Amino acid sequence: MAGDRLTKIRIQGLRSLDDVTLELDGLTVLIGENGSGKSTILEAFELLRKASQRNFLQEVTSIHGGIGALLRLGSAQLTFCVDADGDGGPLRYELTVARDRAWAVILRETLDVGPLLGQVEPLHAIRRTAQRVEIFDQAQGKLVDGPVSSDETTLSLLSAWPNQRAIQRMSQLLSSIDVQLPAETRPLWVCRERKWASPLRESSMIQPAPRLARLGDNLANCFHALKNEYSSDHWTETMELVRLGLGNDIRNVNTISGGAGGAISLALEVRGSPGPITSTALSDGQLAYLAFVAFSRLDTPRSLVGFDEPELHLHPALLMRVLAGLESMAEKVPVVLATHSDRLLDALQHPERSVVLCTLDQERRTELRRPDAAKLASWLARYRGLGELRAEGYADLVMKEPS
Ligand SMILES: Nc1ncnc2c1ncn2[C@@H]1O[C@H](COP(=O)(O)OP(=O)(O)OP(=O)(O)O)[C@@H](O)[C@H]1O
Ligand SMILES: [Mg+2]
Repeated sequence: MAGDRLTKIRIQGLRSLDDVTLELDGLTVLIGENGSGKSTILEAFELLRKASQRNFLQEVTSIHGGIGALLRLGSAQLTFCVDADGDGGPLRYELTVARDRAWAVILRETLDVGPLLGQVEPLHAIRRTAQRVEIFDQAQGKLVDGPVSSDETTLSLLSAWPNQRAIQRMSQLLSSIDVQLPAETRPLWVCRERKWASPLRESSMIQPAPRLARLGDNLANCFHALKNEYSSDHWTETMELVRLGLGNDIRNVNTISGGAGGAISLALEVRGSPGPITSTALSDGQLAYLAFVAFSRLDTPRSLVGFDEPELHLHPALLMRVLAGLESMAEKVPVVLATHSDRLLDALQHPERSVVLCTLDQERRTELRRPDAAKLASWLARYRGLGELRAEGYADLVMKEPS
């Protein structure tokens, strides 16, 4: 539905996240020592995306290592709670997963709408316990028994049902969560030595590319789409962005067909170079930047962007381009970064609003702390930015108590 946006996420019982709540508004930059829980917050976003898709519990096992690996040591259950808002009223989705021997079970799942104008209580769109699934039936105006599947979330089962507007809205929001990691640019010789595939550098089958695949695997297909499926003005702007980062001597980004059966790969046409520079020959940073250009120029529907350590491979000047891109993306959709880069912190437009410091308490639980705007302003009279403050060991002094 138009105007729907995710506003808040609470995670309980996931690894170091005993109970954390993150407000989603514009750009959020997670900082903190190794092991303080930043990547776990991003993995929680991905788990929420999977909760809107079929086979949730199977993927918890096969991809996320199973409920035993996810559950915080000593916790009996894992809960995600997501708030959203939009023209159709506020929504709250809550999902609790627990361990049943080695397997995961859905213990509770609820979706509430409202309260809308004139109502005191929210309406329940889904009420699920371990024993029973109920969903709101619009014709009858009450909860009725819903479909039961021990493996699937009710949200994923009902996202295509008619007259289930709240379910469709939340499902759409969660399925549009996009968690990115820096492009996987390992040198080809290392991949060959280890017998690993290198989809970013080698040719890949021509395929539609509505989004940049994680690790940039489909980069050539993304540029093929940007060149052929968007307007020529859009392509001109894409090339401007490429040149801003990689230099004015880049004439073009081409996709060249290679081998049999419609495989393509990426090649840069560069002034002064006797031939195209193929993706096998591009540097790690050049590829990582091209992947960021594809990520930001494709018209992918997104409700939330998570990006773990975008600084990897990037020269500071390129990192500034990427940060500018992420800041402008954050004007439309919440963007959550995790970073160790002081440069990135120094360059933030609004560190007082963006930065969240993750620390572990005495029981190794993640706590989240935001800057005290007044304290930060007074320190920044003498320091370049929060990055320099952190490098000098003073970041803690400008943070409020954990929220
Ligand atoms: N089952 C568990 N129960 C409790 N804590 C756990 C469990 N599994 C992992 N941890 C801890 O959770 C934390 C997870 O850290 P995470 O990977 O999110 O850190 P990070 O802030 O991204 O660190 P880095 O900067 O090194 O990438 C670690 O401290 C780890 O020891
Ligand atoms: Mg991490």
